[in-house]
Amino acid sequence: MQPLHMTLQKQIARQGAIPFGHFMELALYCPALGYYERDTASTGTVGRAGDFFTSVSVGSAFGELLAHRFATWLREADGSAEPSAEKGGRLTLVEAGAHDGRLAADVLTELQSAHADLFARLEYWIVEPSDARRVWQRERLAPFAGRVHWAAGWPELAARGVRGVIFSNELLDAFPARRIGWDAARRAWFEWGVATQDGHFVWTCLPLRAGDGDAFPFADCGLPLDAPTRAALLDVLPDGYTIEVNPRAAAWWREAARALRAGVLVTFDYGLPAAEWFRPERPRGTLRAYRDHRASDDLLAAPGEQDLTGHVNFTTLQQAGEAEGLRTVAFETQEKFLADTLASLSAAGALSRNWTAARARQLQTLTHPQHLGRAFRVLAQSRP
Ligand SMILES: C[S@@+](CC[C@H](N)C(=O)[O-])C[C@H]1O[C@@H](n2cnc3c(N)ncnc32)[C@H](O)[C@@H]1O
Repeated sequence: MQPLHMTLQKQIARQGAIPFGHFMELALYCPALGYYERDTASTGTVGRAGDFFTSVSVGSAFGELLAHRFATWLREADGSAEPSAEKGGRLTLVEAGAHDGRLAADVLTELQSAHADLFARLEYWIVEPSDARRVWQRERLAPFAGRVHWAAGWPELAARGVRGVIFSNELLDAFPARRIGWDAARRAWFEWGVATQDGHFVWTCLPLRAGDGDAFPFADCGLPLDAPTRAALLDVLPDGYTIEVNPRAAAWWREAARALRAGVLVTFDYGLPAAEWFRPERPRGTLRAYRDHRASDDLLAAPGEQDLTGHVNFTTLQQAGEAEGLRTVAFETQEKFLADTLASLSAAGALSRNWTAARARQLQTLTHPQHLGRAFRVLAQSRP
């Protein structure tokens, strides 16, 4: 039996069934044993030899295009109206979810060669709570030593204030989510929990938390429906209908927004706006497990050995950012975002010197609707 399996079993034996969000937290982030904490230098989790592709693992084209869009935003932040901003002063790029540092390396390499003036004034920060991942990142980013800095969380960056760009790729889909189900007979929501039976993990129903409130889970999904509309929707939900709520993702976005003094907060991920959250074609929610490039609904199998991921609710992020004073400048498909970036590069006659056939193929994968182009969305909010 795998050590993480035993750890979880012991915990459930001690305290009874645990909420799924807690199971997911340990399955992904338990020190040394969680899926994202294991030493993957030899095995790899992301990419061809791993369990799933991301835009980053497709090749360097994603980071190169991002670098050009970031350069535009950095120049805008440089001329911002922020009172303490000193034109020509320090500019900052902040990445969260940097994993093994590959995207950081691609972005920095392109900025260095195509935007040397900005690169000279740039500090690159990685928000990284995990000691293990910091080690992988330091190794990968050794050529940029002195330029790259690490923060364990937002307080340090909030105190400095970010003038520039804060970004992440496939970060928030990896945040542990609460899995909420509908009991049609009792006309009540419950929380999916995890128990054990004959050495296996099994689903069980747990009561909601005391603070969840009457409008739960609609309010937490970014759908503040009035009571009659909520009742009408509940009338048609089938028994066991399941959705996720992810207050940690919205809280993370809020903290990032607070740290941004001038510039853009942007994320790339797959997900939906709140209006598409309750759909008949998704009666079991959006959480999936990935292993060897195959998706599975068996979220409880092999904790620590498969990725667990759920759709991002972009409306909750948008609302959190706007509540912190940010303005939404884009919510669009990755296809559109990258195509626009490429078009503006082309119009400026600045298409990269080495825009090779291999890069064109990467771009196809990044933008094609059946690959990463349509399912992936981009949310960008700015503070002028
Ligand atoms: C799906 S991977 C994406 C990795 C990379 N951005 C890419 O696109 O290939 C998600 C990464 O986010 C990291 N992560 C999870 N929670 C985090 C947090 N609160 N702060 C920073 N990184 C986090 C995970 O450990 C993992 O490395």
